[in-house]
Amino acid sequence: MKIDICYTPELIHQFDVSDKCVVVIDVLRATSCMVAGLGSGVKSIKPVATVEECEALGAQGYVMAGERGGKKLDQFDIGNSPFDYMQSQFKGKDIAATTTNGTRAIELSKEAPEVIIGSFLNLSAIVDHLASQSRDILLFCAGWKGRYNLEDSLFAGAICDGLKKHAEFTSDAVTAAFYLYESMQKDLFYYISRSNHAARLSKFGILKDIEYCSRTDEFEVVPKLNNGALTI
Ligand code: MLT
Repeated sequence: MKIDICYTPELIHQFDVSDKCVVVIDVLRATSCMVAGLGSGVKSIKPVATVEECEALGAQGYVMAGERGGKKLDQFDIGNSPFDYMQSQFKGKDIAATTTNGTRAIELSKEAPEVIIGSFLNLSAIVDHLASQSRDILLFCAGWKGRYNLEDSLFAGAICDGLKKHAEFTSDAVTAAFYLYESMQKDLFYYISRSNHAARLSKFGILKDIEYCSRTDEFEVVPKLNNGALTI
């Protein structure tokens, strides 16, 4: 199987997702939240592009989650912290989520036959899943407002490292991410906390989110998109 990386949603038009297994990646913090929530007993998460769509689902009984610019929206039940999603009161609940970049990347992947959700929190589960299937793989980094980011690229490199015996590296994008991870894997938190998005989030005083999102293999789940909702 072949593996490639799309570093930002602005580049997705260059890729054909119609026959790929797409891994959506937004380490800080959307896909880490989704993994943490579903791994802690949340029933489903419906990613939506707009605040209005989220509010409409809230009126139907969904828990409303999300952020804009990293900040929780006042009218929402929870923001975009993995600790929000892991609260025991949300076990068995359906969550509707909208975020600046992560839910947009999921929306842009929906023509793919398989869309799964990756973060360092479920790294090994993602690698094992990808190694056991036969489709070509696209690692889709959510980035930040169309720009490249460090933490998603680092995680893409971690997947490439895990699949180096299974997948054919087909692009400079993959080689670059592989060696990025090789050079930074010894202290993921150190490097992730030096990313632009960590600096952006620092004004909200959530260093604990960044530390948590830098942990590996807290959950064995592989969230999948089915009929517009993520479940495990
Ligand atoms: C996003 O989707 O852009 C992020 O998850 C932003 C954040 O850290 O809240």
